[in-house]
Amino acid sequence: MTRKIAVSGTASGIGRALAGLLREQGDQVIGIDLKDADVCADLGTRDGRALAAESVLRLAGGALDGVVACAGVAGITPLTARVNYFGVVALLEGLRPALAAAPAPRAAVVASIAGTQPVDPDVVAACLDGDEDAAVALAERAIERGEGPRLYPSSKSALAQWLRRVAVTPEWAGAGIPLNAIAPGVVLTPMTAPLFADEAMRAAMAAAVPMPLNGHARPEVIGEALRWLISPANTHMTGQIVYVDGGAEATLRGPDVY
Ligand code: NAI
Repeated sequence: MTRKIAVSGTASGIGRALAGLLREQGDQVIGIDLKDADVCADLGTRDGRALAAESVLRLAGGALDGVVACAGVAGITPLTARVNYFGVVALLEGLRPALAAAPAPRAAVVASIAGTQPVDPDVVAACLDGDEDAAVALAERAIERGEGPRLYPSSKSALAQWLRRVAVTPEWAGAGIPLNAIAPGVVLTPMTAPLFADEAMRAAMAAAVPMPLNGHARPEVIGEALRWLISPANTHMTGQIVYVDGGAEATLRGPDVY
């Protein structure tokens, strides 16, 4: 039977690779992105998120077999909180009732190795409180203080913590919906292309994200891992942040974290 899977970020990179893999195996993909997608919506705004959820529900016709939130932004901007945290959480929460109506529903998000790096704890707390205006105001202040590089890690740390909290609740595990994350290291996509263009950035990336196993990954590698997480075969894994990062997390955090 054809499974219906909503994927955000399908116009580029990891989301695009995942959508290709799913279509190849016969799934119906409902792609969401700013443009070049089945549903064009800005997940950085409240109105855009509502439009995205409504449109996906209409196209899915009630039940949805999977949701994967790949859309995200990097850089020194409050959009990291708006898109990477609030955009992901709102999309998953908006589509959760349609997932609960499917026979083998699955959900996944794209976290990051960056979620293990230093964060702005106030921004993380505001995200987890669901206070977007506060998170954005705090992010703007962090940028003024010169601590903007902590914002992307903050958005991904908050997302991982949210996922660990909700995955085991009646709404998710209790409704039979596994919810997991893939946390990549460095993936070769348009998001990272500008970093490779600069020698100093390449050296900084190698130091911050060491990848002893096979180096930087192609987006299809992350797509394959996401594909398994949302497959019917995944009956018992939930609440996990799975590092598909060439060994970066194990290198950086060592043997005491597992
Ligand atoms: P990408 O830039 O190639 O693709 C991101 C997609 O998200 C784009 O199509 C973009 O239009 C869409 N998007 C951005 N803002 C949006 C918004 N407001 N509303 C709707 N769609 C929006 O990036 P990539 O590398 O494929 O990233 C995908 C996910 O993987 C992101 O969440 C990113 O943070 C995460 N990630 C990427 C890594 C990398 O090295 N490329 C490493 C770790 C995590």
